[in-house]
Amino acid sequence: MSTSQNQQIQITKAATTKINDVDFDNLTFGSVFTDHLFECDYINGEWQTPVIKPYAPFLLDPSARVFHYGQAIFEGMKAYKDDANAVWLFRPDENFKRFNNSASRMAMPSVPENVFMNGLNELLKLEEAWVKKGNGSSLYIRPFMIATGTGVMANPSDNYKFMILLSPAKAYYAGEVKVLIAEHFSRAANGGIGAAKAAGNYAAQFYPTNLANKEGFQQVIWTDDTTHTKLEEAGTMNVFFRIKDTLFTAPTSERILDGITRKSLIELAASEGINVEVRPVLVAELVAAAKEGTLKEIFGAGTAAVISPISGFSYQDVYYELPKSEDTYASHLKEKLTNIQNKLTEDTFGWTVKV
Ligand code: COI
Repeated sequence: MSTSQNQQIQITKAATTKINDVDFDNLTFGSVFTDHLFECDYINGEWQTPVIKPYAPFLLDPSARVFHYGQAIFEGMKAYKDDANAVWLFRPDENFKRFNNSASRMAMPSVPENVFMNGLNELLKLEEAWVKKGNGSSLYIRPFMIATGTGVMANPSDNYKFMILLSPAKAYYAGEVKVLIAEHFSRAANGGIGAAKAAGNYAAQFYPTNLANKEGFQQVIWTDDTTHTKLEEAGTMNVFFRIKDTLFTAPTSERILDGITRKSLIELAASEGINVEVRPVLVAELVAAAKEGTLKEIFGAGTAAVISPISGFSYQDVYYELPKSEDTYASHLKEKLTNIQNKLTEDTFGWTVKV
């Protein structure tokens, strides 16, 4: 039982708000933060009094483990506002579970459910003006935990900081998304930390993604580390492939993140009568389908990316352009999903939770 389980959140309000300086129609993803953040420290085996306080930089000892060994995890979630101004979360229980699975893999303490959920709810209540209405608008939520214990010995920290930041968001990708299929690089290996939302998984992708960006691609689709024959996921999202009228996506594994948008889309597509197959998808079958014209769509799925259609892919220096169509699974599923998230349609799945 941690100390904070029965403790009220201490709230210190910001003297002023930045909200009037924000251009909500022109947001660069993840660059603007609300006036307050949530914070709860874990010290000597106990969660301390949780606080909500003005968003501001904070001090850490230069030897804090997060700087040296990257003991850090995070989540991505979103809040939406309905026509009656109520604020809603999408499957927050899934984020909470995944957060603590990541914590366990990274030898970090579990965050108690009430610290995570009450902290999130109270912060959202305070910042509800930052959640804008309408399909396409959301408040991106970034819960994260870092190792704050001092000393550069390579073992787990004794102290941690759990925080939640909020950032108003629109689309993650503004324009066309072309992808490069990785021939050498992989996201993760079996036995590694690929299934965890560990900060280092994302940092490890920056170098190969930079190389791909230089060649004009926005993202890389990672292939498995052993054979480089199986399509895994992209840098910021899971991936779906439509060959003829079947939708394929790779099964989750020790290497692939169990995406909440991914699992929601699998259910949603099936409920719409779309044939969905969760099985390893081979680079060879993608290339063959592209050559014979049966590859109709590729799209990414993630909290930040929502559903991002991919216009083409390159493999072994050959670029395959995908057919252009208005009537795609991506657009149909995106409309269905975002209508549920924004409370514009009935949520028959029970995925949305009121703040
Ligand atoms: C999310 O979709 O929330 C993610 O965590 C991806 C992130 C790299 C932007």
